Amino acid sequence: MELENIENSGFAALGITGVLLKATENAGMSEPKPIQTQAIPAQIEGRDILGIAQTGSGKTAAFSLPILAKIIGLGDKRRAKTARALILAPTRELAVQIEETIRTLSKGAHVSTALVLGGVSRLTQIKKMQPGVDVLIATPGRLTDLVRENCIDLSDTHWLVLDEADRMLDMGFINDVKRIAKATRKDRQTALFSATMPQEVASLAAGLLRDPVRVEVAPQGTTAAEITQVLHPVPTKEKKRVLSGMLTDQSMASVIVFTRTKHGADAVTRNLERDGYEVAAIHGNKSQNARQRALNGFKDGSVRILVATDIAARGIDVVGISHVVNYDLPDEPESYVHRIGRTGRNGASGAAITLYDPAAENAKLRAVERVIRMKLPVKEAPAPVGPLPVKPKAEKTEAAAQRPADNRNRPKSGQKPGHRDHARPHGERRENREKIWSNDGSGDQRAPQKKKPFRRRRRGAGAKAA
Ligand SMILES: Nc1ncnc2c1ncn2[C@@H]1O[C@H](COP(=O)(O)OP(=O)(O)OP(=O)(O)O)[C@@H](O)[C@H]1O
Ligand SMILES: [Mg+2]
Repeated sequence: MELENIENSGFAALGITGVLLKATENAGMSEPKPIQTQAIPAQIEGRDILGIAQTGSGKTAAFSLPILAKIIGLGDKRRAKTARALILAPTRELAVQIEETIRTLSKGAHVSTALVLGGVSRLTQIKKMQPGVDVLIATPGRLTDLVRENCIDLSDTHWLVLDEADRMLDMGFINDVKRIAKATRKDRQTALFSATMPQEVASLAAGLLRDPVRVEVAPQGTTAAEITQVLHPVPTKEKKRVLSGMLTDQSMASVIVFTRTKHGADAVTRNLERDGYEVAAIHGNKSQNARQRALNGFKDGSVRILVATDIAARGIDVVGISHVVNYDLPDEPESYVHRIGRTGRNGASGAAITLYDPAAENAKLRAVERVIRMKLPVKEAPAPVGPLPVKPKAEKTEAAAQRPADNRNRPKSGQKPGHRDHARPHGERRENREKIWSNDGSGDQRAPQKKKPFRRRRRGAGAKAA
């Protein structure tokens, strides 16, 4: 009787057993979340699925656990260069995070994983794929390249997951995704998950799925209930001052500030640094090392403020983000849902603050309010609660005083002068040159350009998304 009770509760009741159940519980997951309860059994039965649930509600385990359960059941025979399951994600950082989750959930189960993404060495990835793996987590651009070069064979891929499915099916990714899906097994099982699914992409989704089960924990676009949301009307030229003032409030303990463009992210970062704040920035013009370093610093708590473009808006799971600040409204209204979803995760509380310019951002605001199906409360921006943490001028060393105000490339301590922040080994730099032709979701798909003589750009010119 007691044994029956154990089997009929928690993840065991959903069909998760043995080592996998143990690892899941060791990861702090003993009670399944609603999306897990509803989506896991259907996938174990072999059904395709479209899973919609709010940000931070456990979608990763909802698609990972059923695949792991099946793979563990299969034993270890694999063919060279193949992957039994493929999980596609729109950004490199999200792919890295999903792999970490899968490793945690399958600890002790001898499940092999590989990561294939742009901005880092291809050779390591090719070698990792050589014997074949159980679960491959990839961004579509690099994966397309390696499949085309016969370094990866998807003909044995039985499970395909598109995390952040609506993003994966929009213009930037759809062609790569279609090609990749076509290269997998005809009888594959497919899962699509997201917190948002606009009508226009839902029809594209239908093309990838076979008689799917639709699991909708909350209607698409629903923001997590734990997040308090507020709108501060601030003219664009006042936003920098208002943001710096707001951050004097130490209760804003761990803050992610989203900007619409890479140029904007750099400008906000420079301003906050000038006002004495410790800040890291993450956007598509940074090297992969700099991107991951910024995110890791934010994760381990050594950096209080992370300035980011929408490359960090989706899926990134950092425990304890207290505030999300939208420095401006996103171009895609769905991004609002994902941006603010970096806080208030897994039942924690969180606050989302949006600075909006009534003269310039009205249409974008209306679009956001349509997606979230609510009106955002408007409040005057708060006054600073203390002085800015600007270092007194006298503290400046002579060398620091001689540095230009824009010190993006200033050498870090321990680096030789002239060593640039994003300096990296030769091979990797070549790697980046190759990847700029491919679209892997990092937002940095530029054609190689000839070096132009340095010229000061007009403000706002050349600003690109992400
Ligand atoms: N059953 C569970 N019990 C406890 N914690 C859980 C459970 N399921 C997931 N979590 C935790 O909740 C957090 C959020 O999960 P996850 O990243 O999968 O959310 P998500 O739904 O994918 O969000 P997003 O839409 O932002 O990608 C993670 O830290 C995860 O470890
Ligand atoms: Mg997710």
